[in-house]
Amino acid sequence: MTDLFSKFDPLIAMRSDLLATGVTDPFSLVMERVISPTVAVCNGRETILLGTYNYMGMTFDPDVIAAGKQALDDFGAGTTGSRCLNGTYAGHKAVEAALCDFYAMDHAMVFSTGYQANLGIISTVAGKGDYIILDIDSHASIWDGCKMGDAEVVPFKHNDIEAMEKRLRRVPEGAGILVVLEGVYSMMGDIAPLKEMITIAKKYGAMVLVDEAHSMGFIGPNGRGVAEDQGVLDQVDFVIGTFSKSVGTVGGFCVSNHPKFEILRLVCRPYVFTASLPPSVVATAAVSIGKLKQGAAKRAHLWENSRTLHAGLKALGFQLGTETPQSAIISVIMPDLERGAGMWEALLHEGLYVNLARPPATPANMTLLRCSLCAEHSAEQVQTIIGMFERAGKLAGII
Ligand SMILES: Cc1ncc(COP(=O)(O)O)c(C=O)c1O
Repeated sequence: MTDLFSKFDPLIAMRSDLLATGVTDPFSLVMERVISPTVAVCNGRETILLGTYNYMGMTFDPDVIAAGKQALDDFGAGTTGSRCLNGTYAGHKAVEAALCDFYAMDHAMVFSTGYQANLGIISTVAGKGDYIILDIDSHASIWDGCKMGDAEVVPFKHNDIEAMEKRLRRVPEGAGILVVLEGVYSMMGDIAPLKEMITIAKKYGAMVLVDEAHSMGFIGPNGRGVAEDQGVLDQVDFVIGTFSKSVGTVGGFCVSNHPKFEILRLVCRPYVFTASLPPSVVATAAVSIGKLKQGAAKRAHLWENSRTLHAGLKALGFQLGTETPQSAIISVIMPDLERGAGMWEALLHEGLYVNLARPPATPANMTLLRCSLCAEHSAEQVQTIIGMFERAGKLAGII
């Protein structure tokens, strides 16, 4: 009998080699208590959180929490059913209305996660015989959606406008085309040149889907994302987003102005064949989205944090994922996994949590320490973080 687990042997070996160096396992940290959007207790010690996607700090917003508690009392713990059957409650319609209002779009469809939103929308709209042209650094949920839908999948070099156009030029006459882009690419924290890319995509008659998971709430004058910031939101056919980042809870969505959009509720398998989100979750999301609309001051403070941290780390000599701060994510490039894990642990000992990212999640085989800032980080905390990086970087031999 072939052991079906034998394909994992190289990963098992890599993991045990890493742990044999005595480093703490970077992938099994426990948050023993969460004190605020920016502080938790890990290994019995208060730790600054610089590796969450809680960009706008909504997880502890009192109005958000009150709405969740009320919904728990009024509607119970879960729906136990699909959105198409018994799983659509008033709260699901309310959060979809909040999304339509937030994006100023006609339709919104809420999924149980952002992963399922990409899986569902991409696989349903682009099927056999259609073409998907996508950035090679796309999120796993985008790739999985492509695979599930059976379309011809044609990747192009990351953020390369000419490479994208070259692929579009080769699509057979008359074939349906979906161009899939992200606003912010979460590994390096860089943004896409959406204005140029979308203009070209439209020239070739393509529909455009933009995943704005890491920009919602923060980027753009109204927090609608990079497409809004670059003035092309009205040309995007589908915006994909998540509640697991700026919104501060869990869930995913697609918003669109397509006149036939509502039919997707009957044909999109990751929407139909799974239970809907609990009432408390959609209630928290609806209140959070409403408050994000009014989040201009928080957005300004978060930009300030991003600029300060980027400049501070750059001045210390760290190699960063972007030349200038482009989002709330600042990636610090490590020489290899072993030294990356060492640096990660040194930061944890300082009382700072960041995300260690490694292939296949990262591009070009890189090991990254991904820092994601929150609007609730104070200016003082950001200075403390820079000091922690300096000490840990010297200890781990990175700077
Ligand atoms: C670009 C992108 N899209 C989609 C998702 C999936 O979001 P969710 O956590 O809601 O499944 C993520 C999550 O990390 C992401 O980075």
